[in-house]
Amino acid sequence: MSFSCIRLSKICFLLSVVVCAVLLLLIPKFKTDWRPKSYPQPRPPLVFNGSSKSDTPLQQVESSSTDHLDDETNNMVPFIKDELVKQWSNYITDTRRSRLKATGKMNESPVNPLNSKMTNNVEPIEVSAKEKLELNDVFIAVKTTRKYHKTRLNLLFQTWISQAKELTFIFTDWEDGELRLRAEDHVINTNCSAVHTRQALCCKMSVEYDKFLESGRKWFCHVDDDNYVNVKTLLHLLSAFSHSQDVYIGRPSLDHPIEAADHVRNDASTTAKFWFATGGAGFCISRGLALKMSPWASLGSFISTAERIRLPDDCTIGYIIEGLLEVKLLHSPLFHSHLENLQRLRGDTVLKQITLSYGGPENKHNVVTVDEVFSVQQDPTRFKSVHCLLYPDTLWCPPLMLK
Ligand SMILES: *[C@@H]1O[C@H](CO)[C@@H](O)[C@H](O)[C@H]1NC(C)=O
Ligand SMILES: *[C@@H]1O[C@H](CO)[C@@H](O)[C@H](O)[C@H]1NC(C)=O
Repeated sequence: MSFSCIRLSKICFLLSVVVCAVLLLLIPKFKTDWRPKSYPQPRPPLVFNGSSKSDTPLQQVESSSTDHLDDETNNMVPFIKDELVKQWSNYITDTRRSRLKATGKMNESPVNPLNSKMTNNVEPIEVSAKEKLELNDVFIAVKTTRKYHKTRLNLLFQTWISQAKELTFIFTDWEDGELRLRAEDHVINTNCSAVHTRQALCCKMSVEYDKFLESGRKWFCHVDDDNYVNVKTLLHLLSAFSHSQDVYIGRPSLDHPIEAADHVRNDASTTAKFWFATGGAGFCISRGLALKMSPWASLGSFISTAERIRLPDDCTIGYIIEGLLEVKLLHSPLFHSHLENLQRLRGDTVLKQITLSYGGPENKHNVVTVDEVFSVQQDPTRFKSVHCLLYPDTLWCPPLMLK
């Protein structure tokens, strides 16, 4: 009798141990099921730089489910743990070689309403607008320097800026009477040095940031003076988000996150690993996120933050957002810098991009391919041709363009 009673309680004990063990095993499973649904995933690397072989066709991945941006999940982004970031960065290196697997995974991302925009597909897809944007909701900072007022900047005024005067603010390093007449209070003399050093560039970015906060506008976008901005596609992209969410969108120039030592802690072992959007392709930041950056970016603190990691202005932005605030960069293939092979972009696709560029250190022929509105001699950057294709009723465009 007592023997069977002991056996019975032994069996009960064993059963409860088994139940506990099963529950414990299930917990991590729930977690992993839940995590990828809640966080935006770093994208597998896209090939961006000019020297890379075109082993990535433009229309690579495609469209699947267009999941809708969800406030609740998006708000979880800041809580990403280092561990998770590591996990995903492994994922990125692993999937470099098995692109198919990577694309399958990518399509599961719930956070991004513009799924195909984040893949290597340069054809934008239709997305439903989340927030109606007026022209003056956006602040586009164009970074330039004295040397390029007459050349690069004039081309921009002639082309895209003529359609976007309200949005555009020129940040330079010299008081130019002619430029002042033309752009009035939309030109800002940063009083930063005109040399092309890390410090001087960070000085300009710091002024851009402060002026944006002061403006009260909803979106901050930074571009260089060799970028063409398609304002219509830019507004379309931004309107898919809410400006009060944490949004940092642009194109990385590297295919892996950058690692930087934090010199403030004076400890070689403290490094931060983060993605950043290359300044040369342009990037945008929502006001909600810009406000959170303020302890490291406002009123000159941007310069000390840049000193802390000893990296250029665009990397510092990535460091503040991904490294410190733990908000992920949304990788978009619609932004383009001169570091890429721009010749791959051709035809109507060119007109659907958000930013374009031209040239590059060793390659004057690195330009987009569009219908010959102007010859390459008349329009070496192709920006005039692009502009006439987008705005055929521009006065100086050939009348043939009017269809
Ligand atoms: C471009 O990519 C190639 C191959 O991945 C690499 O060897 C090269 O250094 C990269 N160039 C730049 C400018 O990043
Ligand atoms: C640059 O200096 C001028 C003249 O001192 C000043 O009016 C202007 O506000 C300065 N710019 C910035 C961005 O501080």
